[in-house]
Amino acid sequence: MKKGLFITFEGIEGCGKSTQTKALADYFEKNNFPFIVTREPGGTLISEKIREILLDNANHEMNPETELLLYMASRSQHTGTKIIPALTEGKHVICDRYYDSTLAYQGAARDLDTKFIDLLIDFATYSTTPDLTFLLDITVEESQRRICHRGKDRMEEESKEFHEKVRNEFLNLANKYSNRYIVIDGTLDSEIISKIVNQEIKQKLDGKNETE
Ligand SMILES: Nc1ncnc2c1ncn2[C@@H]1O[C@H](COP(=O)(O)OP(=O)(O)O)[C@@H](O)[C@H]1O
Ligand SMILES: [Mg+2]
Repeated sequence: MKKGLFITFEGIEGCGKSTQTKALADYFEKNNFPFIVTREPGGTLISEKIREILLDNANHEMNPETELLLYMASRSQHTGTKIIPALTEGKHVICDRYYDSTLAYQGAARDLDTKFIDLLIDFATYSTTPDLTFLLDITVEESQRRICHRGKDRMEEESKEFHEKVRNEFLNLANKYSNRYIVIDGTLDSEIISKIVNQEIKQKLDGKNETE
């Protein structure tokens, strides 16, 4: 059976990941594509419990190392029990954030050793890599405008400098992994972004079918 496409959405808070995840799910639904929608941290019962610990504002004293390992623990459960089985069954997987967020937040912004993080990623994901990653790029000012009305979680409460580092690292990653990354201006109209996303997926699927 053909493997499904693994699609991830990345970017700073408020860039439109949830909006586009939903739009893509609607597109797949309309076209009768088999798919699942999921998110990180979370996606499974155990992973969602770890998510609560990670995002809880009461957990201010969490060490960066603890944070990194919790993200990875959540990810290995999610990847092993949900993402890989779905892809193997031929379902497309749409995931709101994945390991690039760890490289941006814990690697660049928290300044943890990225070589070590790369090893942990490989271990926790069973070497699973997204086929397509959409980076919805907006400025930190735009992010703050968009999320100021919603309650901030532990990560969102970080400083402007922290979020600048995260944004820059996403752009670096898009450069480094240009074979799977598509960078989209997140200030474009949601419907236009959605059309770009659908078009890129169509192209990827056409290319995939030709090589199989
Ligand atoms: N392309 C866009 N242009 C303007 N506002 C947007 C766009 N996409 C999303 N938004 C709005 O920005 C806010 C954050 O969007 P959301 O999809 O929740 O972002 P994220 O999941 O990345 O945090 C929401 O109020 C949403 O309606
Ligand atoms: Mg969201």
